Amino acid sequence: MSRTPFVCANWKMNGDTLSNRIWVEQAKSLMSRHAYQCDIAVCAPTPYLSGLVTQFTHSRLMLGAQNVAHFENGAYTGEVSADMLADIGCDMVIVGHSERRTLLGETDEQIAKKAALAFSRGIMPILCVGETLQEREEGRTLDVVKAQLTAVLSVTGLAPFVAGAIAYEPIWAIGTGKSASPADAQNVHRAMRECLAQMDPQAAQNIRLLYGGSVKPGNAVDLFAQDDIDGALVGGASLHAQDFFNICDCADALVK
Ligand code: PGA
Repeated sequence: MSRTPFVCANWKMNGDTLSNRIWVEQAKSLMSRHAYQCDIAVCAPTPYLSGLVTQFTHSRLMLGAQNVAHFENGAYTGEVSADMLADIGCDMVIVGHSERRTLLGETDEQIAKKAALAFSRGIMPILCVGETLQEREEGRTLDVVKAQLTAVLSVTGLAPFVAGAIAYEPIWAIGTGKSASPADAQNVHRAMRECLAQMDPQAAQNIRLLYGGSVKPGNAVDLFAQDDIDGALVGGASLHAQDFFNICDCADALVK
């Protein structure tokens, strides 16, 4: 197994030009002290992407968007296309984050289109899946996650996510400070990999499965020690460069 560990920051709707500049300066200083071999990305709010492309030049940081339109181009006021993200130099994009599914009503069909369009433009999609607290309490976690996976992957195939990643983000763990236990997360990740293997055994071995939901420097080591957890999608803790790179340190320790 040679999946490169991957830690991805999701800044969500936070920050401004000044705080971003300070973050990048701190990041560059931390990266100058340690030659990271894991993959590291930052998914930033749209208005800052162009500026960050320039700031990330000659660094190990990859740049991601937090959303992309499910249309190619045209009269879609307010939308940002995959072509535009590729044009400014974005490397990846998050699709299907639960905040967009629940707050903005994104459907699996739209998410599949977003992932396929992004991939066709050379942008690596990171697909998010995960159950609500109620679904978990009803014992439906694996069914929900598998249904979310197949709804998208049956349309896109697995190739986009061999390039990108798939993140398991239990909704009850996002921003709550209450992470899934490493064993619980591993159970879901294993089931996800088995589900992927039914579609394409080889691709299933190569796809990075990230965990997301209250990942912090203090719980990253134990999460990353699990066989099927290949990194993390980090929200709150990614806003502080030092915390984020402490998490990257834990992932980097996995690089063989
Ligand atoms: P969190 O968010 O780390 O703040 O829980 C994770 C995410 O939503 O991607």
